[in-house]
Amino acid sequence: MQYPPTATVSQNQSDESTLGQYIPLLYHYNMLQDDDRVGSFLQAIKFVIQPGMNVVELGGGTGILSSFAARQGANVTYVERNPELVSIAYGFLDKNGLKANVDVVQCDAMSFVPESPVDVVICEMLHVGLLREKQAQVIEAFKANYKSRFPNHTPQFIPEVTMLLAQLINQSFDFHGFHAPLPMFQAPVMGQSRTTELSKFQTYANIDYQELIPHRFEQGIHFQIELPGTVNAVRFATQNILAVNMAEQRAITWPNQCLVLPIPSPFHVHSLTFSQLD
Ligand SMILES: C[S@@+](CC[C@H](N)C(=O)[O-])C[C@H]1O[C@@H](n2cnc3c(N)ncnc32)[C@H](O)[C@@H]1O
Repeated sequence: MQYPPTATVSQNQSDESTLGQYIPLLYHYNMLQDDDRVGSFLQAIKFVIQPGMNVVELGGGTGILSSFAARQGANVTYVERNPELVSIAYGFLDKNGLKANVDVVQCDAMSFVPESPVDVVICEMLHVGLLREKQAQVIEAFKANYKSRFPNHTPQFIPEVTMLLAQLINQSFDFHGFHAPLPMFQAPVMGQSRTTELSKFQTYANIDYQELIPHRFEQGIHFQIELPGTVNAVRFATQNILAVNMAEQRAITWPNQCLVLPIPSPFHVHSLTFSQLD
């Protein structure tokens, strides 16, 4: 075997494939089947959106969230960049009897500006740590364009806030005797058999979509160690607050998948000591 390899990964890989902006159709089928995701957004949309409101959905995909808003009696503009999805959504909205209630627009959401002020913007381009999809960038660009057309008005966003958390763990990267420490996704449920939790989750950012959204986080995080052991990975969790029901003092939330990121130099920790991750 020749090492190091002579060929490098093509520098020509587009932003589309590397940053997850292009989502294949098959994956949309999985997203439609994800009852936690769809159910949480449906609850938030039913709570926030009232008849007669003007609503924009950025990154509309199959059109499911636009359909929920339209069924609330809102005037909806669906914005999607991928032309294949735009024509699929157009067909689905027609099949669901909602063609007249949803204006379908094919364009990059980063340059979309509505013609009149909107009450609510739905944007589900969420990925763990806001890493692969461009929720933050798209909403920032939308806000900037919107503000130059409507300087005194800001719409409500669904989601409202995203909380980013991290945790020190020991992860088994052993696969039938083959050691392969690779980044991996994990369902957002505790008690994973390959994971030993060595610290609690610690919040390192609260993204409020109404405020300026940072793209880098450089602050140190202090972890309180709960269990002694060898830290060989950091687990990242992402909790989205889709809407807040103040009357019932209840948030409508949806957690993304977690990301388990192996670290190059594992280290040992003792109970009740503190470690710092920069
Ligand atoms: C996670 S999917 C969500 C789709 C749909 N809203 C749903 O909930 O099923 C994100 C969608 O955003 C679209 N998208 C990504 N970047 C975009 C951009 N810059 N402008 C418009 N659409 C974009 C993708 O093509 C994809 O359909």
